[in-house]
Amino acid sequence: MRKPIIAGNWKLHKTVAESLELANTLKTSLAGTTDTEIIIAPVFTALGKVAEALAGSNIAVAAQNCYPEATGAFTGEVSPLLLKDIGCSHCIVGHSERRQIFGEADQFINAKAKALLAENLKVILCIGETLEERQGGKMYDVLTTQIKNSLKDISAADMQNIILAYEPVWAIGTGQTASDEQAEEAHAFLRGLLQGMFDPEVAEATRILYGGSVKPANVDGLMAQEDIDGTLVGGASLKAEDFSRIVQFKCS
Ligand code: 13P
Repeated sequence: MRKPIIAGNWKLHKTVAESLELANTLKTSLAGTTDTEIIIAPVFTALGKVAEALAGSNIAVAAQNCYPEATGAFTGEVSPLLLKDIGCSHCIVGHSERRQIFGEADQFINAKAKALLAENLKVILCIGETLEERQGGKMYDVLTTQIKNSLKDISAADMQNIILAYEPVWAIGTGQTASDEQAEEAHAFLRGLLQGMFDPEVAEATRILYGGSVKPANVDGLMAQEDIDGTLVGGASLKAEDFSRIVQFKCS
C-alpha cells in the first residue's frame, strides 16, 4: 500500500511573509489530514521560517534545489546539510526547469540525490519528456535514460527515500494536463523500469507523483489511476483553497 503524497512546488513565488501566510493557512485547513502526506516547497529564503511554523504539523517542507557538496568554495549554493539544519526533510531535484533553464544533466542530478540521501533527506526526483520527444516517439527512451542515469549507484534500500515525479514538460504551466490514461501509461512504464533496475518490492513501494497542470478539477481522475500515487503541483499550490482541495482528492 503506497500512502499518497501531495506536494506543492511554489517555484519562484512569494516573499517570506506571503509564504508564512500560506503555510499557516494550510496548516489550519489541512490539520485533520492523516491519510495523505503533504509537502510544500517554498523559495530558499522562506524555508527556515516556514519549517519553524510547520514544526510538529502534518506538512513537511522541501527545498526546490541543492548543491551536492556539504561546504566549500561554491559561491551561491546551498547544501543538503544546510537544508537539514533549517528543518527541511525533502528536496526536489531534476525539475525540468532546472534541466532546461540551467542546463542540469542527469549526472549532476544523480550527485545531488546521493548527497541528499547521505544527509537522510528525502529526494523528489523529477523526470519527463518534452513535446518534441513525445511526438518523435522517444518518450520511453528519454524516461529510461533519465531514470537510469539519475538513480545510478542508488541502492534498493535508499529507494525508500526516493519519490519519483513524472512531469511531462509539455504539461507544465501550460494548462494542458496529460490525460488520466497518458499519465497512467507513463507511470506504469516507470514502475516496470524500477522492477527491472531493483526488484518487485521497490517497484511496488516507490511513490510516483504526476506533475503538470494539476488542478482541483482534474486531480480526482488522476488519483484514481492505479500507478499514480500523488501529485506535484505548481501554480495551483499557490492558492490555499486549490491546494487544500487537491490534498483532499476524492478517489471513487
Ligand atoms: P504546474 O502545476 O504549474 O503546471 O507546474 C507543475 C510543476 O512543474 C510542479 O513541479
